[in-house]
Amino acid sequence: MNQARGEWSSRFGFILAAAGSAIGLGNIWGFPIMTAKNGGAAFVFVYLILTFVVCFPVVMTEIAIGRHTAKNPVGAFNQLAPKSIFAFAGKLGVLCGFMILSFYVVIAGWVFGYFVEVVSGGLQRLAQDGEFGNFVANPYKNLMYTGLFMLATVGIVVGGVRDGIERWARMLMPTLLIMLLALIIYVMTLENAGKGLAFYLIPDFSKITVPVVNSALSQAFFSLSLGMGALITSGSYVSKKDDIIASGFIVTVLDSSIALLAGLLIIPAIFTLAPDTTAETIKAGPGLIFEFLPKVFMNLAGDVGYFFASFLAAFFFLLISFAALTSTISLLEVPTSWVVDEKKIRRKKAAVLIGVVIFIIATGSVLASGASDFFTHFITYPSGADKDFLSFVADVFFEMCLPLGGFLLSAFAAFRWKTHNLSKEIAVGREHYIGSVLEKWLNFVIYLCPVIILFIFVNTVLAKLFDIVLF
Ligand code: PFF
Repeated sequence: MNQARGEWSSRFGFILAAAGSAIGLGNIWGFPIMTAKNGGAAFVFVYLILTFVVCFPVVMTEIAIGRHTAKNPVGAFNQLAPKSIFAFAGKLGVLCGFMILSFYVVIAGWVFGYFVEVVSGGLQRLAQDGEFGNFVANPYKNLMYTGLFMLATVGIVVGGVRDGIERWARMLMPTLLIMLLALIIYVMTLENAGKGLAFYLIPDFSKITVPVVNSALSQAFFSLSLGMGALITSGSYVSKKDDIIASGFIVTVLDSSIALLAGLLIIPAIFTLAPDTTAETIKAGPGLIFEFLPKVFMNLAGDVGYFFASFLAAFFFLLISFAALTSTISLLEVPTSWVVDEKKIRRKKAAVLIGVVIFIIATGSVLASGASDFFTHFITYPSGADKDFLSFVADVFFEMCLPLGGFLLSAFAAFRWKTHNLSKEIAVGREHYIGSVLEKWLNFVIYLCPVIILFIFVNTVLAKLFDIVLF
C-alpha cells in the first residue's frame, strides 16, 4: 500500500489479500464437513450455483462500495445511506468479525496444536479413534494454542508486517495447493476411494432440500469472507485503475477451487479408511479433518516411513495454520479499522484491546468441548437442540448473520445506491462495461439476490432455532 490513505501496490496485492482472507478453515475444515453432512454431491452442486449466481454479485458489490467510499464498512454505509436500516449492515459486519473470530481462532488453535503434536512425535497417537475428543477436552493446551494464534494475529495487524505476510503467502499458498493435489492423488490409489468419489461427485438431486440450500449459502458466504464487510475493507484500498470484476472473479474461482480440492481429499479418504461408511453413516462433525488426516498420513507411513510421513503431516498442518492466519488477520481487521476510523483510537491500542476481548470470549469456545459443563451445554433451542457455546456462536454469526449481511448489502445496492451507481463504479477500470451483456446480467441478478437470500435466511432461522421447515 502507498499514498495518503493507502492503496494496494498492484492488482496482485488486492487479489492476494482477498484470496488470503477467503481461503482458510472455511475451505479446508468447513467445506468437507458441510458436504458430508448435507448429502455429498447434491450439496456441492447447490454450493457452486449459489457461489456464482448469488455470491459473486455480492463480492462485486462489496468491492465496489469499498473502492467508491474508501472507508471501513460502518463508515461506508454511513456515507452512502446515513441513518437508514443499511447503516445497521456496517455495524452488524463489525460484530460478525468480532464473534466469528472468537470461535475461528479456537479451531485455528486445534490445527496449530496438531502441528505441534505431530512435530513432537505424536502422529500415531493422533491417528487413533477418539483422540480428537481427548485433545479438545484439554483446556490448558487449547487455551495456550488459541492464545498463541490470537497473539500472532494481533501482532501482524498491529505491526503491519504485511510485506512479510504477503511474501510468505505468495510461496505458501501455491505449496498448499500442490500438497492438496499430491494427497488427493495418493488417496485415489487406495481401495474404496471410488465409493467416496461417487458420493462427492454424482449428485442425487432428491437430496436437495431446503436445509441443504441453507447450509450451502451460509458456507459460500463464510468461505468468500462475504456479508460482513471484509471485502469492503480490502476493496477500500483498490486502485481506480483496477478491473474489479476480473479481480473478484479470480478470488471467487480460487476460493471455490481450494474448497473443492479439500473435499476431494477428505471425502474419499473417509471411505478408504472406514470402508463401511455409507451416505447415511458418514461422519460429519467438527473433528472430521482432525480424525481422518492423521489416519491418511499413518497410512502413508506404511509406504514412506514414520519419520517422513510425520514430516509431511506437520508441514500440512502448518500450511493450514498459515491459511487460517491470513483469514484471522482479515477478521480482526474489520473491527480494528472501524475503531481506528470512527473512534479515533490508535491502531495499536485498538487491535490489542479488541484482541484481548475476543480472546476472553474465545475462552468459552475452548471450554465448550467437554472441559466445562456450562459451555458444553450452553443453550437449548426452542427446537430442543442442545448446543455448546462454539456451535451456538457459529450458528448465530456464521449461519445466520452473514447471509443477513449479504441480504442488506444486495438490497442496498439494488434499492438505495441503485444499479446505475454500482455500474458507474465497476466501469472505472473496466472499459466498455456500461451497456455490456455482463452489466445487464449483474444488474438483473443484484435485484434477485435480496429475494433469494431473504428467503433462505428466514428458512435457516426457522429450521435452526425452531426445527420448522417451511418448504
Ligand atoms: N473465509 C474464511 C475461511 O473460509 O476460512 C473465513 C472468514 C475470514 C470469514 C474473514 C470472514 C472474514 F471476514
